[in-house]
Amino acid sequence: MEQMTAHHTYETPVHTPEKEKPLVFETGTHTADPNEMPAFSGPREKRAAPQYARLIDLPVIRDLRGSLTYIEGFHHIPFEIKRVYYLYDVPGGASRGGHAHKQLEQLLIAISGSFDVILDDGQTRQIFPLNRSYLGLHIPRMVWRELDNFSSGSVCLVLASDVYEEDDYYRNYDEFITEATRTTEPGDACPTRGST
Ligand code: TYD
Repeated sequence: MEQMTAHHTYETPVHTPEKEKPLVFETGTHTADPNEMPAFSGPREKRAAPQYARLIDLPVIRDLRGSLTYIEGFHHIPFEIKRVYYLYDVPGGASRGGHAHKQLEQLLIAISGSFDVILDDGQTRQIFPLNRSYLGLHIPRMVWRELDNFSSGSVCLVLASDVYEEDDYYRNYDEFITEATRTTEPGDACPTRGST
């Protein structure tokens, strides 16, 4: 397990209960070696607030022709990829997201340009600025997310653990918070966990 965490270059942020003052998550320096990317298995030792949200260094193959990054479900990310979608042509000042998922897990990547992802698990709220094509933000279930500050021409690639299902959404923040705070264990607040 030590080997796995050695490739994650983020700094564990300070836990804060102050939702009004989001922390800015500094992503650090990319050092992933594509030949040494470990399989994704076992417990996740390095947790960022909100609980379980984490930045994942993806493999990069660079040569004179440019760079290539690849992602295999259950290898580089902790779920099978059942859906891919992407956000683009986002007008200046627009926000996306504004919801949480009961079961769905996602990986967000700033394939081009940059944007900010604000995550809120009911206990902590934190900003993740994304601006690297090889850096994925894994968002587990039961985490409210908002995306804003999109740069011109930016593209947000989303890998999802399941097909689109509107019933899986919390689109009302108060409803989400009520459910997320029903238990004291962050990231494990949904009573329907394990069901589909
Ligand atoms: P929405 O989830 O609100 O977008 P975002 O959270 O990325 O800002 O989705 C916008 C619309 O697109 C909404 O009517 C649902 C629809 N949609 C699909 O039909 N399939 C999908 O896979 C996704 C992500 C959204």
